[in-house]
Amino acid sequence: MFETARSIVAGQHTIAELVPRIKRHGDFKHVVIVTQPSIKAMGVIDRIESELSQAGISSRCLSDVKPEPTVDNIQQVYSRIASEPVDLFIGIGGGSVLDATKLFSVLMTDPVDVMSLVGIDRVSKPGIPTVLIPTTSGTGSEVTPNAIVTIPEQELKVGIISRHLLPMLVIIDPALTVSLPPNITAATGMDAFTHALESYISTKANPISDMFALESMRLISGSLLQAYHHGSDLQARENVLLGSMYGGMALSSAGTAAVHALAYPLGGKFNITHGVANSMLLPHVMTFNMDAIQTRLGHVACAMGLQIGTEGGKAVSEAVIRQIFEWTSEMHIPQNLRAFGVTDEDVGELAVAASKVTRLLHNNPKPMNIDDIQAVYRQLLP
Ligand SMILES: NC(=O)c1ccc[n+]([C@@H]2O[C@H](COP(=O)([O-])OP(=O)(O)OC[C@H]3O[C@@H](n4cnc5c(N)ncnc54)[C@H](O)[C@@H]3O)[C@@H](O)[C@H]2O)c1
Ligand SMILES: [Fe+2]
Repeated sequence: MFETARSIVAGQHTIAELVPRIKRHGDFKHVVIVTQPSIKAMGVIDRIESELSQAGISSRCLSDVKPEPTVDNIQQVYSRIASEPVDLFIGIGGGSVLDATKLFSVLMTDPVDVMSLVGIDRVSKPGIPTVLIPTTSGTGSEVTPNAIVTIPEQELKVGIISRHLLPMLVIIDPALTVSLPPNITAATGMDAFTHALESYISTKANPISDMFALESMRLISGSLLQAYHHGSDLQARENVLLGSMYGGMALSSAGTAAVHALAYPLGGKFNITHGVANSMLLPHVMTFNMDAIQTRLGHVACAMGLQIGTEGGKAVSEAVIRQIFEWTSEMHIPQNLRAFGVTDEDVGELAVAASKVTRLLHNNPKPMNIDDIQAVYRQLLP
């Protein structure tokens, strides 16, 4: 099955079309903009507020959604608007902001405890309409039915998955990603690549997810290093941002797998940024999966533009994995969990937490037991 945003506008400087597009969708009067201070500093929020005001639409801005928000952070920020008239949310930011916006939208129409929504199809009804505008090229959250929240008490990140989280309108404007510093370009770009690759080798991969996954990998492989080294290259930024959205479309249909399952405890317990955790795990999990996915890795090599045959085989799979290692090294993404305070003693607990993310482990092309999971974490503790 494939479901996505109702409308998508993509292209350089399309943020200028925001207010006219909103007006086409309905007679909205009270908008809440959800964002973060780093996005406000870009000046884009002031412009949006001024254009909304000229169109006779009142707006209020919430800018204190935390990166990789906790359940408490969501609940607190939501409580400040719970009793106000809101008929449209605009989320403008990275995956953290977009996920928070989706949750505020459904809490407005069904004000339940966020924890009661964790899992698949637990959201009872549509929320207030949303416009989602990504400013990182990573999560693809703008087109996924997912929202990820951190539960500090359980040292875990969990997913809320519902078609009611899909937005009314998405604006994909690469100009909004030019200000991303290289380390965030790297981590979020690798997250996007991981979405595409995991979707392509998922047990739920299908013709629709395959199309988005391959195009996502082609675009990201061709432009991520350029966007990292030359952040103002708008064409490279556009390619990675489109690749990120296609990765989100692929994962909406096919799901991510063991890389994401093992990344969640690293985020929940050690606050390792989502994209960094995925980048570190990706080559090791693919090495574990390799014998089950050699033909598919042949297609991946082709999408990545690697100069080798497409017939599959161990050498091609190894070339894909080597290329991923080379990217993380060139973009200075750590390859050692000790840099984040993880010790050998933590491996047991991390593996137990990861083994509970069965929603994603089920998608992995090769079953992973707790010993296999421990072995992957140990690879990152040389
Ligand atoms: N919903 C989904 O489908 C999905 C998929 C994957 C990940 N996620 C979740 O998304 C979250 C991560 O999102 P993310 O990787 O986009 O990072 P993020 O939203 O946490 O942003 C990272 C940092 O970059 C800053 N930033 C964002 N845009 C910027 C810009 N244009 N210029 C300068 N700084 C900017 C943010 O303020 C923040 O400090 C995690 O919680 C992750 O689990 C969601
Ligand atoms: Fe991700």
